[in-house]
Amino acid sequence: MLPQELIRKKRDGHALTDDELHEVVAGIVSGAFSEAQVSAFAMAVFFKGMTTAERVAFTRAMTHSGRVLDWNDHALGGPVLDKHSTGGVGDKVSLMLAPIVASCGGVVPMISGRGLGHTGGTLDKMGCIPGYNATPDIETFQRVVREAGCAIIGQTADLAPADRRLYAVRDVTATVESIPLIAASILSKKLAAGLEGLAMDVKVGSGAFMEEIEDARALAEALVSIGQGAGLPITALLTDMHQVLGTTAGHNLEMREALDYLTGAGPRDARLHAITIELAAEMLLLGKLVPNLEEGRDEAQQALDSGRATETFARMVSALGGPEDFVEKSSTYLKPAPVTKPVIAARTGTMQSMNTRAIGVALIDLGGGRRKTSDTLDLTVGFSQVAKVGQKVSRGDTIALVHAADEAGATTAAAVLGRILHIDDPEVTPPPAICARITA
Ligand code: URA
Repeated sequence: MLPQELIRKKRDGHALTDDELHEVVAGIVSGAFSEAQVSAFAMAVFFKGMTTAERVAFTRAMTHSGRVLDWNDHALGGPVLDKHSTGGVGDKVSLMLAPIVASCGGVVPMISGRGLGHTGGTLDKMGCIPGYNATPDIETFQRVVREAGCAIIGQTADLAPADRRLYAVRDVTATVESIPLIAASILSKKLAAGLEGLAMDVKVGSGAFMEEIEDARALAEALVSIGQGAGLPITALLTDMHQVLGTTAGHNLEMREALDYLTGAGPRDARLHAITIELAAEMLLLGKLVPNLEEGRDEAQQALDSGRATETFARMVSALGGPEDFVEKSSTYLKPAPVTKPVIAARTGTMQSMNTRAIGVALIDLGGGRRKTSDTLDLTVGFSQVAKVGQKVSRGDTIALVHAADEAGATTAAAVLGRILHIDDPEVTPPPAICARITA
């Protein structure tokens, strides 16, 4: 069928057959669907949705749009596990989680994405490491996973190539927040990576694609059931994204926070820590490496405290071409932005809330995200010391620090953050970091 006929059928709210969905996916990969047609298809799905059968068929077609890895011949000695987040602001969990789980006996081939919409992407964060090859060939990827226990890479040309193109188009066409598109995007990559267990971090709140708990729960349930249909055990946690996760947003700044977290160089943000440890415990449980979550949490904490997780991270970095001394000499590699400017509390009170999505957008405005798919990121810009919801502040306190390429950018971003970080009198209890757990 012609691309426009397939788009038209979806636009008019009809279900596409398995063969038609295969045709769409094949067209996305081959280029038979133009950029305009890919985006029109995404918009049609955004508005008309997909039936359960369509979701499964679309995910399957995306998975098989490229190579599907098989780890059987690799004598790994541990279960193949991963985590995926639906995306947030300041979400640097993967950087710590992959080495933690690998240090506990899991094997983590983590295929991550670029920033999407207002959210940051793990793949872009790996761009902070000079020489790091985030798109190795499959053989190198498999060797690094075998040797280091984990490898964080981007989608290669051979793994779920349909998602690579569709993801880039969705990023810039306001078609991200769609359950069938998100589920197929995430699960196709994970199924192509040959996983044996997946922990899903479904974000909920003002900085997430799913702002309402009911929508996040619907996405989590869709992910769990499509995964189950495809034979992939999944547990989903709904975690809070009503505020920046941790204290930073921006690539070099988040890498700094992740390294400090791993090495214990600074205090670990409590919410970031809770989510990281819980996801690690879920992964260890899915991989049957521990009998229950309690022991999973203990194992993960020990991997951190003993320094094993940091060693694993360093091994992964050098195995993928990054500097041998990246962890020890990170300050020489993570360049600061030319200008910093504090955001000052205009009054005394309690941090009530923040429009977290607007912080992600402000980061894009600073040059730390893309306006179009071909944009190059400024890795140095962003925000640090972002105050927490519920925190008491006094007039004149610094409630965030802007890192910018120039004075004008810093001034604009500081003014935006000053409006976004809302201070008032009432006491506030933030939502729990982990809101719900969904299993099959
Ligand atoms: N993460 C993905 O990989 N895809 C999405 O669509 C959203 C989050």
